[in-house]
Amino acid sequence: APAAAVIPAAGLGLRLGPGAPKALRPLGGTPMLVHAVRAMARGRTIALVVVVAPAEQLTLVRSLLDEHPPPPGVEQLVVAGGATRQESVRLGLAALPESVGVVLVHDAARPLVPVETVDAVTATVRAGAPAVVPALPVTDTVKAIAHPGAPGEPEPVVATPERALLRAVQTPQGFDRATLLAAHEAATSDLATDDAGLVERMGVEVVLVPGHEEAFKVTRPLDLLLAEAVLARRRI
Ligand code: CTP
Ligand code: MG
Repeated sequence: APAAAVIPAAGLGLRLGPGAPKALRPLGGTPMLVHAVRAMARGRTIALVVVVAPAEQLTLVRSLLDEHPPPPGVEQLVVAGGATRQESVRLGLAALPESVGVVLVHDAARPLVPVETVDAVTATVRAGAPAVVPALPVTDTVKAIAHPGAPGEPEPVVATPERALLRAVQTPQGFDRATLLAAHEAATSDLATDDAGLVERMGVEVVLVPGHEEAFKVTRPLDLLLAEAVLARRRI
């Protein structure tokens, strides 16, 4: 069965600062979303890319993707997103045809993911893992707090998890289609920041494969500077 990629791109990018929705911001002169779609469309066995766009920008995103057609054998589709990432992914999943067996969910905000990472995730799902997540060891020590403090107030620390046992996760996260659909249907809130978390809550095993430094998420202004530098290095 073919694989499909769902690309949530309906966020506002508030942490990046004022401007267009994050997925439409340029990187090397091309919208971030176009980079992300290209990266996924190049993946082995990917036959369909579903872009989940801001509802107000549907027409704009459709014409943008028409200007950047996918490689032969890959279809692309644009649907409207929702108020949270989880809702946007759910709306993207609803657009998948029955024939799709493997689904990769990839943030538009990770425009520079190498195709090797995409293929490693797909291959691990095809080898039988129901849920696969690219991940890297964390470099900062991480502290847990009981709840976010009021602005300007110091926050009491409640724990320091052993760093060697922590991983920072990336996308694309890959799934057996039925598993991911069931996980989204079983979800009791709309606030999950990754899809694998919903699968874990069903009691289904999630496994990690090596992520890639260049699959980092563009979240804050400094990330955009880094992304421009990585892209410039590739183009030399
Ligand atoms: N996303 C989405 N629909 C939403 C919110 C987020 O499709 N309602 C997508 C974003 O477009 C992004 C991915 O989920 O590709 C990861 O989200 P994040 O990095 O948080 O992006 P934004 O929500 O756009 O940024 P911010 O939280 O800073 O506003
Ligand atoms: Mg967000």
